Amino acid sequence: MSTFWSWYITLLTVGTLLALSWLIFATRKSEVHKNPTDQTMGHAFDGIEEYDNPLPKWWFMLFVGTIVFSIGYLVLYPGLGNWKGVLPGYEGGWTQVKQWQHEVDKADELYGPIFAKYAAMPLEEVAKDEQALKMGGRMFATYCSVCHGSDAKGAVGFPNLTDSHWRWGGEPSIIKTTILNGRMGAMPAWAPVIGEDGVQQVAAYVRKNLADLSLPADKPYDLDKGAAIYAANCLACHGAKGKGMAVLGAPDLTSPAGWIYGSSLVQLQQTIRHGRNGQMPAQEQYLGNDKVHLLAAYVLSLSQNQQSAAAQ
Ligand code: HEC
Ligand code: HEC
Repeated sequence: MSTFWSWYITLLTVGTLLALSWLIFATRKSEVHKNPTDQTMGHAFDGIEEYDNPLPKWWFMLFVGTIVFSIGYLVLYPGLGNWKGVLPGYEGGWTQVKQWQHEVDKADELYGPIFAKYAAMPLEEVAKDEQALKMGGRMFATYCSVCHGSDAKGAVGFPNLTDSHWRWGGEPSIIKTTILNGRMGAMPAWAPVIGEDGVQQVAAYVRKNLADLSLPADKPYDLDKGAAIYAANCLACHGAKGKGMAVLGAPDLTSPAGWIYGSSLVQLQQTIRHGRNGQMPAQEQYLGNDKVHLLAAYVLSLSQNQQSAAAQ
C-alpha cells in the first residue's frame, strides 16, 4: 500500500474513533440528571414519547467497551494502513494464512509423536488399536467422507470401502499406496470404436454372461457378438474371465456388488459408450505419510469388520 493510502486509512480510522469517543462523552447526561425525571424530549412518534434520561450505565459502558476493544485490536492486528500489528509469534505481520499455519504447527508438535508412533507399526497392528482407529475415524470424517460417505459405504462413482471388493487391491500396503498416490481409473469410451450396436451387445454380454444378471425378455441380444466384442476389446484390461485387473484398477465384471457406476443395462451401456474416469485424489502432499498410515489402517479395519461380520 502506498504511503498516501496508508495515512488516508489511518487518519480516517483514528479520526472516526476520536469523533465517536467525543460524541459518546459529549452527549452523556448522567452529570446533568443525577435522578431520573419524567420530563420528555418533547417529540412524539405515533404517540410514543422519549424521556430525557441518561443511558443506563451498562449500555454506556458497552459503547466504551467497543471503543477500547477496537484500539486493542488495531494495535495487535493489521488494520491501520501499513501497520502490521504486534501479535507475538507473527513477526512481519499477522495474516489468516500465518494464523492457520501457526495452529497447524502447534497441532503437529502436539500430535506428531503419536502419529509417528503408529507410522512405525505395521498396518495390521494399527488396525487393531482402538485409539488409532478413533483418530483414523475422525480424519476419515474430515478428509474422505465427502466422497466415500460418512459410513464409508460409497455412492455412485465412489467405491464402498467396507466390503471385500477392491478395484486396486485390498492388501494393506496397496490400500496405503492408493491413499498416498491417488488413483485414476481409465475406462475408454467405446462408442467410437464398436458403434452403438456393439455397445448394446457387449453390455448385454457383460450383464448376462459375466455378471449373471437377467436381460429383458422382449429385446433380442446377440450374446455371441457381445462375446466376440469383449474378447477383442475388453479382455486386455478386464481379463479373459472378466475378473478384472487390479494394477489398472479395472474392476471385476463378474461381481456387480463391487461396481460403482450401476449394473442396470442402461447404466452399463452408458459406462461402455462414454467410458469412465474415477479419480481418487493423492493425499501424500496434503496429509503426509504418518496420517495416511493411520487412514489406511482405518480403511483396513472397516473391510475386516465387514468380513468378520459376514463370517459369523
Ligand atoms: C484400457 C483398459 C480397459 C479396457 C480396454 C476396458 N476397460 Fe472397462 N474399465 C477399465 C477401468 C480402469 C475401469 C474403472 C473406471 C473407473 O473406476 O472410473 C473400467 C470400468 C468398467 C465398467 C464399470 C464397472 C463399475 O464399477 O461400475 C464396466 C461395465 C466396464 N469397464 C466394461 C468394459 C467393457 C465392456 C469393455 C470392452 C468394450 C471394457 N470395459 C474395456 C479399464 C478398461
Ligand atoms: C474427491 C473424492 C474423493 C476423496 C476426497 C477421497 N476419495 Fe478415495 N476414491 C475416490 C474415487 C472416485 C475412487 C475410485 C477411483 C477409481 O475409479 O478407481 C476412490 C478410491 C479409493 C480407494 C480404493 C478402493 C478400491 O476399491 O481399490 C481407497 C482405499 C480410497 N479411495 C480411500 C480414500 C481415503 C482414505 C480418503 C481420505 C483421505 C479418500 N479416499 C478420499 C474418490 C475420493
